[in-house]
Amino acid sequence: MCNCFGVRSLHILTDVMDATSLQPVSESPPRVGGVLGDMKIFAKTAMLRAAIAADKRAGKRIAFVPTMGNLHEGHLQLVRRAQREADIVVVSIFVNPLQFGPTEDLDKYPRTLAADKEKLFGEGVQYLLTPTVEEIYPNGLQAETKISVPELSDTLCGASRPGHFTGVATVVTKLFQIVQPDVALFGEKDFQQLAIIRKMTVDLCMPVQVLGVQTARTVDGLALSSRNGYLNDAERALAPALHMALQECREAIACGFDSYTDLEQHGRDALAKAGFRPDYFSVRDAYTLAAATVETEKLVILAAAYLGRTRLIDNVTLNLNPSQDWGMLAAG
Ligand code: PAJ
Repeated sequence: MCNCFGVRSLHILTDVMDATSLQPVSESPPRVGGVLGDMKIFAKTAMLRAAIAADKRAGKRIAFVPTMGNLHEGHLQLVRRAQREADIVVVSIFVNPLQFGPTEDLDKYPRTLAADKEKLFGEGVQYLLTPTVEEIYPNGLQAETKISVPELSDTLCGASRPGHFTGVATVVTKLFQIVQPDVALFGEKDFQQLAIIRKMTVDLCMPVQVLGVQTARTVDGLALSSRNGYLNDAERALAPALHMALQECREAIACGFDSYTDLEQHGRDALAKAGFRPDYFSVRDAYTLAAATVETEKLVILAAAYLGRTRLIDNVTLNLNPSQDWGMLAAG
């Protein structure tokens, strides 16, 4: 299809395929599909499906990295891991309105599609899906079937952001149905999201292997996030205190301190002292996200806190029984 490998320019596909027949049709809506070097860009899910079906018939293994764009090194780490796991890497960029609350930042969420395409092309990604909201939710947001993952979705970020994880689970299910990947990659930065997606794939018998990838950070420890761009200089200087508070808690537990409620209070106080407005600071079982007890061996310490109007999240993990495999979290 494309003989322009290495040429950093965007070429628009000339055919628009009919979504049901996959035959070229002569409609003329604005189109955003195309080819960037060797990377094929699809706005229409039916065209991506057809390409992936052909790859699967040829015995290729498919890896999928769903994103909301504004790509940074954390996203690119997922892409690189995906490349090690499969023959074909599919990335989606879709700012999913269903996972934003009415007072959240949907409109101002950073959209940097041109730069994102260049980054993915630079990484050698084969397929990029950039659907419209109408393509993903043709019935409108209210009328669509929803996927909700009980219990895990109601705590931590779910308690502060009602409906958020239903929005995530619903869009990820749809994207899995479209892409039908063998393996899908998610960041441990969004630890609760990863846990919910793992549970959802098991509960709904989805034939997708879910892999978690370590959090990418700046040198001062701040987890990379599209929302870091909202921070002003003063807030950016304070932001690493979130990771420091988590690390302090982790070290205290590693040294044998097991009064987790005291540590949680201490963590909230440390965040407030550093200039944050803490939402939660919590020591949990890394598999179930239930409150950790002295019996829990695999812990995750999670925190969410506001700096000004920006809500940051982060987490660190700790295995109190290193003789046992920690693989499930990293390897799915
Ligand atoms: P988004 O925030 O764009 O993140 C896409 C993926 O990148 C997620 O799996 C997230 O955990 C991972 N990621 C983000 N920052 C990271 C970091 N610093 N290190 C490692 N991985 C990181 O998460 C979403 O989009 C959406 O909820 C989505 C799953 C796409 C559904 O809409």
